[in-house]
Amino acid sequence: MKPSRQQEHWGSRVGVVIAVAGGAVGLGNFLRFPGQVVSYGGGAFMIPYLLSFLFIAIPLASSEWALGRRGGRLGYHSPFGIYYAVGNKSRFWGLCGGLSGLTPLVISMYYIIVEAWCLLYALQYLGGLLDHCGLGFSLLNEVKPGLLLDSSSEYGSLFESFTGMNADGSLFKNAVSPLAVVTLVCAAANFYLIYRGVSKGIERFSKIVAPLVLICSFVVIARILTLGNPTGTPGQSLIDGLGFMWNPTREIVLESGEIVRSSVFDSLSNPEVWLAATAQLFFTVSICLGATCSYASYVKPNEDVALSSVTATVANEFCEVVLGGLMAIPPAVMFLGIQAADKFGSTFSLGFIVLPNVFGQMPAGQFFGFLFFTLLFCAAITSSMSIIQPTLALFQDALRISRTVCVLLVSLVVLSGTAFVCWFTKDLAALDAFDFWLANFAPFLGGVFQTILIVRVWKLSNLQKEWDSGAIVKLPRFFGPIIKYVSLPYLAAIFAFWCYKNLKGRVLDVAENDVAQYSLIFIAALAVGLLALSWIVIERWKKEERLK
Ligand code: TRP
Repeated sequence: MKPSRQQEHWGSRVGVVIAVAGGAVGLGNFLRFPGQVVSYGGGAFMIPYLLSFLFIAIPLASSEWALGRRGGRLGYHSPFGIYYAVGNKSRFWGLCGGLSGLTPLVISMYYIIVEAWCLLYALQYLGGLLDHCGLGFSLLNEVKPGLLLDSSSEYGSLFESFTGMNADGSLFKNAVSPLAVVTLVCAAANFYLIYRGVSKGIERFSKIVAPLVLICSFVVIARILTLGNPTGTPGQSLIDGLGFMWNPTREIVLESGEIVRSSVFDSLSNPEVWLAATAQLFFTVSICLGATCSYASYVKPNEDVALSSVTATVANEFCEVVLGGLMAIPPAVMFLGIQAADKFGSTFSLGFIVLPNVFGQMPAGQFFGFLFFTLLFCAAITSSMSIIQPTLALFQDALRISRTVCVLLVSLVVLSGTAFVCWFTKDLAALDAFDFWLANFAPFLGGVFQTILIVRVWKLSNLQKEWDSGAIVKLPRFFGPIIKYVSLPYLAAIFAFWCYKNLKGRVLDVAENDVAQYSLIFIAALAVGLLALSWIVIERWKKEERLK
């Protein structure tokens, strides 16, 4: 039986695209993408990345939109309900759907924290603290106003101390940690907007914030493009920065001091690079993560999904490759040099250590730093709404209780995980564990199962009909077969190859690390809870159907 509640819909077609693109454009575009490019060898990463964009992101995003709108028409808005309804009301697909709610739920638990970092950094720039002039106030207990932060290591230790990377529980040592307060404020803003509903909360807010993100990015990029060669050192111009990102080969200094050119083939034969490239697309386009189908379920039954899905995916890609690519890597190369590239390292060090260092050296860096972190925060908040929404939809589909109670329940569950991550901050071990299992590993399983549901159970002919209904521009006929014969084997192959080569190493790592184990236990407990809830609700639905 359908959940009995009023149907919600997006306000307008443009509104849907803005809300979905706003959900997709987030920290993944501006922090995770440049971080991955740098970690996996610059241009060599871009080859599997662009292939995955064509063969995975575009086809799977459009099929997920169709799946979502079909589920919405049947009265369901969570992946749980949608899988159950489209999967011919079988227990198996219902349980798969219930389990796929785990991904957005766990990701939301730490995404809010990184969102809070961005807000804190923006406030610090506003207060003049992260700048040579050192005028401002300090929200961070460790840093006194007026302190000069002009070396990488100072930015590094600032980041480490305020995220609590030095020891577990350090955020709770002082009575009120500024980060904890800002995290709670971010969480409250998210819950409030979601409570307002998809069109009055999410859509309206995205329409205000999306232009802001674009304007701030354009201003920051205009600054970067006009810097020339700021340090006057050869090899540190804008073109060198772009070359670092796009050249498939680059010079590497061997231990012996000899300089050699890397080979593209070496990168392409490494399964890690393919896994990372595909996982980056899942994350940034937010597909196969139980989120886009939930947003798409609020599209009106006779409105377009074909063009909208492609538009939102391409818009997200523009923000990632063009804007995200220009804002992070070139300035880092321009100020610090290509040889420092290996130190740019992970997502977080590029964004929170290297770039503040770059802004510190740039004329009017305080202003541009403020713009950069403000745009990160704005992009993050529209994304975190899209990460939390599926969990709200899950409770609404399953429990048929009032929206207010559902939002309260969601906030309790999400904040319990956020508290867990805020406690185990040493080396950000809990955050890393959550991120690896849910943002790198789970999407492959989710992608394979979701694609099987679409091509085997729902069937390509129904998918095509769903695409065509209300389509402004019809998708070419080969999209369906591409999903079945290219995307699905491609995903399965990368996942199998990765498991074969790397799973054992991962398991051994977990065996050695307590926090990684606690994190897995926490995730497993949530998974069991979701499965139990799904089971109970499916049985109830079945019973109600028999009685009808
Ligand atoms: N795409 C977003 C980003 O790039 C992250 C995101 C949005 C997401 N919605 C999601 C991740 C749902 C997982 C699940 O930052």
